[in-house]
Amino acid sequence: MCACSVDVGSGVGKAVVAVAMITPARAVGLEIVAERAERAAAGLAEAVDRGLLSKAEAARAEVRQADALLPDAIPLNTSYAYVSNLCFSDELNRGIVAVLRSLPRLRCVASLAELPQGPVAVEDDGAQVEAQAHAEEAEAEAEAQAQAEAEGSSHASATCKLRLVRTLRVPMSWDDQTRLYIQCCLR
Ligand SMILES: C[S@@+](CC[C@H](N)C(=O)[O-])C[C@H]1O[C@@H](n2cnc3c(N)ncnc32)[C@H](O)[C@@H]1O
Repeated sequence: MCACSVDVGSGVGKAVVAVAMITPARAVGLEIVAERAERAAAGLAEAVDRGLLSKAEAARAEVRQADALLPDAIPLNTSYAYVSNLCFSDELNRGIVAVLRSLPRLRCVASLAELPQGPVAVEDDGAQVEAQAHAEEAEAEAEAQAQAEAEGSSHASATCKLRLVRTLRVPMSWDDQTRLYIQCCLR
């Protein structure tokens, strides 16, 4: 099954379009403000009209007007999530973390502010850190797989712990060195 990625708080849908454009994943955006969700839907349609997004890519992309904290708002098969949470309250961040952690297929979450969970902050300053992050991801995956097999299931389903595995610097419109925190599931 193809991975599902979710932009939690998708605004006018830029990240949703980008994911549909450059990855094979299903791209879902959840936006609580109706007017932004409507603009995102219009933007998706316009991207197809302009030939920026193929119909097949657009078929994998969707923006829903919803409160991401409500039950079932975030698809259960979400593997990857993005949270543009620089302006989110602690309470909202905690709520999002609680929902994400309960998703049975969740692998990693990228956020602009570190999510309120995860014991060790790792600054990406070289190959050693990268190698460590990859080793940790592989270890987490192996653990999850072993647990799933032990439970006779094709995927792990326990609530996971989000661990910060990497911090990247990415260019944004307001700053070309914005931190992006990559937090992955340990089950
Ligand atoms: C920084 S903006 C979105 C940026 C967008 N992710 C992007 O990359 O272009 C954050 C958005 O989160 C939305 N938001 C805040 N709380 C939310 C919630 N509980 N559920 C869904 N969306 C929410 C806000 O309305 C706002 O549009």
